[in-house]
Amino acid sequence: MIVLRTRSAVLAWRAGLRGPLGFVPTMGFFHDGHLSLMREARRRAGPDGTVAISIFVNPTQFGPNEDLDAYPRDEAGDLEKAAGVGVDVAFCPTDPRELYAGSRTWVEVEGLDQHLCGRARPGHFRGVCTVVAKLWGLIRPDVAIFGEKDYQQLAILRRMHADLCLGGEVVGMPIARETDGLAMSSRNANLTEHSRQDALAIPGFMDEVRRRFAAGERRSAALIAGARVALRPGRVDYVELVDAADLEPVETIERPALCAVAVFFPSRGGGEVRLIDNAVLNP
Ligand code: PAJ
Repeated sequence: MIVLRTRSAVLAWRAGLRGPLGFVPTMGFFHDGHLSLMREARRRAGPDGTVAISIFVNPTQFGPNEDLDAYPRDEAGDLEKAAGVGVDVAFCPTDPRELYAGSRTWVEVEGLDQHLCGRARPGHFRGVCTVVAKLWGLIRPDVAIFGEKDYQQLAILRRMHADLCLGGEVVGMPIARETDGLAMSSRNANLTEHSRQDALAIPGFMDEVRRRFAAGERRSAALIAGARVALRPGRVDYVELVDAADLEPVETIERPALCAVAVFFPSRGGGEVRLIDNAVLNP
């Protein structure tokens, strides 16, 4: 596998490349969710195509009191796992300046960031959009793969991709879960043994919402009733039911909707880990 460290190295590599190119942007510390995206990129690029990933813990998408420093990292392990699923090239900038030195341009998608993580983490999606736009310009993929675990991120990036005429295609992949139902996340590594168990309240709650929905319940308030109790001992950041397309809150579900949650649990480092999960409810 080729590891590229600088913008100029990426541009030189890209200029000589022919054939389909699949791309998976990441912040590293890989689990099976990340690898499922890479396998899909491999499948879509085909045997003659190329699969590229990026590993970059993007500082601009972290708030001042968030876990940038505590974000788990393991570049050597990541590169080995990526090679194992057929990744050809990894862009791993050694320094944020490689992407941000002298930068004065921000990419913001209006409206879709008013709820869920956008409201809970001001500026977060501006950081995500800006870095993905930069990466898209450098890598120029035919297809880039993102996970539905970060449903709002995927919706915002689809809008940005269309609005900025970036070319190629955005593809979403389903949430990969641990066998006990917890959505895979690099941040799970920062949970204590105890809070890892407590975090099962999240998939438990999502199952309950799906069960109520399947039983015919269509009122949002009734679908998420009791959420704070069900999600204890976590500290709930938000529990919301929104339209799956425009992410605006809904009172009654008549079109596909998204139930999304964010909950804090105690972390190893003494702070908190913020976990998210979601379920699409299709009437
Ligand atoms: P990161 O959290 O590393 O995730 C990289 C990709 O993996 C994202 O598209 C995310 O949705 C997907 N992913 C994470 N957990 C998943 C799971 N359990 N199942 C399926 N897919 C999963 O998301 C980011 O990085 C960053 O915001 C990034 C887009 C790279 C911009 O910095």
